[in-house]
Amino acid sequence: MTYHTILTQKNDGVLTITIERPKKLNALNKATISELHSAFTEAKSDATIRAIILTGSGDKAFVAGADISEFANFTEQQAAELSREGQQSLFNFVEQLEIPVIAAINGFALGGGLELAMAAHFRVASDHAKMGLPEVSLGVIPGYGGTQRLTQLVGKGRALELITTAQMIDASKAETWGLVNAVTAADELLDYCYRLAEHIKRNGPLAIAGAIRAVNAHYQTGINGYDVEILEFAKCFGTNDFKEGTSAFLDKRKANFKGE
Ligand code: COA
Repeated sequence: MTYHTILTQKNDGVLTITIERPKKLNALNKATISELHSAFTEAKSDATIRAIILTGSGDKAFVAGADISEFANFTEQQAAELSREGQQSLFNFVEQLEIPVIAAINGFALGGGLELAMAAHFRVASDHAKMGLPEVSLGVIPGYGGTQRLTQLVGKGRALELITTAQMIDASKAETWGLVNAVTAADELLDYCYRLAEHIKRNGPLAIAGAIRAVNAHYQTGINGYDVEILEFAKCFGTNDFKEGTSAFLDKRKANFKGE
C-alpha cells in the first residue's frame, strides 16, 4: 500500500514503521492514525513479520502529540468520537497485536506520541528524548489511553505528577521510572532495537503471541490472568512450534520455528 504520512520498510522479518511528518514534529493527524492502522493491520496478516519497530522521522521528534489544529474546535461529541475511534483503531490495536512492537523514541514523545509509545509492547529511548503528557496545559486530558497506560507503567503518583504538572521528563528519568526499558545514544537507537528484534525472531511466534495475550489479560477487568496463562500455556503443547522447540533443545540444535 502507498502511504503519505508514514514509511514502512520490511527487512528479514522485521517491519520498521516511521512516522513521516517532520515539519509538524510527526504530530498524529487523522490521516496518520488511519495509515498506521492500515500498516499494523497489514502486518497482522503477514506471517513473515516477527517484530515491528515504530519510530519517528528526523532526530527531533518521535511524535509531538495529536495534531492540535485538527481538534481545536471540536464539540464534546466530536471529542468523544475522536478519542474512542483512535483508541480502538490504533492504540488498543497496537497493544493487542500479537507481534511485538518496540517503540524507538528518537526525540519528543508528547501527548498522543507518548500514548502511542506506551501502547507498544516496550520502549527504548535515545538519550536526548523528552517525554510528557502535557494535555492539561491545553485544558484537556490525555484521550488515547494515557491516563491508564502511564499509571500501569509508572504507578499512580508518578503518573499524576507527569499529567498534572504537564512537564517533560528526560530519557534517564523515564528509564528510572520504568517508562522506557533502555536509553541509547541517538545514532545507536535503531541498531539497539534491531538487536532486540533479532532475539525475538529466534523464538516461537505462537508462544510469543500467547505470552502477549496472557500479559495483556492482567490489565483486563473481570478476567483472571492466571487462568488465561493456564489456557495459553496448554495451547502451546498442541503446536508444531512446541515440538520443534523441545526437539531442537534435546538434539542440541537451533530451533526452526514456523509459527504452526
Ligand atoms: N500538533 C500540531 N502541530 C504541532 C504539534 C502538535 N501536537 N507539535 C508541534 N507542531 C508543529 C508546530 O505547530 C510547528 O508548526 P509550524 O512550523 O507550522 O508553526 C512545528 O510543528 C514545529 O514545532 P515548534 O513548536 O515550532 O517546535 P519547537 O522546537 O519550538 O517546540 C515542542 C517543540 C514539542 C516543545 C512544541 O512543538 C510543542 O509543545 N508541541 C505540542 C506538544 C503538545 O502539547 N502535545 C500534546 C497534544 S494533545
